[in-house]
Amino acid sequence: RLLLTGATALYSQARDKMTDDIAVDAAKRTAARTAVDQWVTEDTKILGIGSGSTIVHAVQRIAERRWKEGELADLICVPSSYQAHHLILDYNLNLGDLDRNPNIDVSIDGADEVDRKMVLIKGGGGCLLQEKVVANCAKHFIVVADYTKNSARLGEQWCRGIPIEVAPMAYVPIKLQIEALFGGEASLRMAKVKAGPIVTDNGNFLMDWRFIANREYDWAEVNTAITMIPGVLETGLFVNMAHKCYFGMADGTVKVQN
Ligand code: 5RP
Repeated sequence: RLLLTGATALYSQARDKMTDDIAVDAAKRTAARTAVDQWVTEDTKILGIGSGSTIVHAVQRIAERRWKEGELADLICVPSSYQAHHLILDYNLNLGDLDRNPNIDVSIDGADEVDRKMVLIKGGGGCLLQEKVVANCAKHFIVVADYTKNSARLGEQWCRGIPIEVAPMAYVPIKLQIEALFGGEASLRMAKVKAGPIVTDNGNFLMDWRFIANREYDWAEVNTAITMIPGVLETGLFVNMAHKCYFGMADGTVKVQN
């Protein structure tokens, strides 16, 4: 009987997890489609394409409008990662780059966590450097996410810390300096299959800095200080960059944060 009870509990846990995953994905889809329909119009010439699973829904909606509804034929999409690059190609959209399209009208991207001041943590998928460059080139940077990413303060939901892209030879001194400056613990992100450190699209390493959860940080100051450490390429802290955040909610609605 003990064995049966254990198996039943495991089954319920797996079922609940699957139900949660489905609900979260539905929320990502609603947020992404709503943002695309509100921000990508016939006047949008150049669109930045972020990275992650929510962005897949955004690209699908753009492709639907391009190929089924006959809109957006001239839209040029500028990717923020290899993933985004291939998404654009897979859906047969016009692929652009910052050499030819440095002035982006709108950029749409996901986030790992968003606080009430719209400070974002990004880089869960490791693409933060190019994501920040592309977002910075956009007149409007629009964030799409599910309800689990919406926090009052950073660290409430996203426990992996702040991703930081670093030059491989510098990760130990960078770790020590971040910990000395701001506390917490910074660690190298490793591949799950014990294949060594994760390498970014740009050939660098990624660190995840677990900051002190209940400490009041000035995120603009933290971002500047960490970016100044030699060997740091970029942080996953996006401060004063997001124009609007669209959160898909559990009840099927979309919450918009300014
Ligand atoms: C990748 C990112 C993603 O935008 C972020 O991790 C959100 O991902 P998802 O849409 O899969 O939840 O910053 O580096």
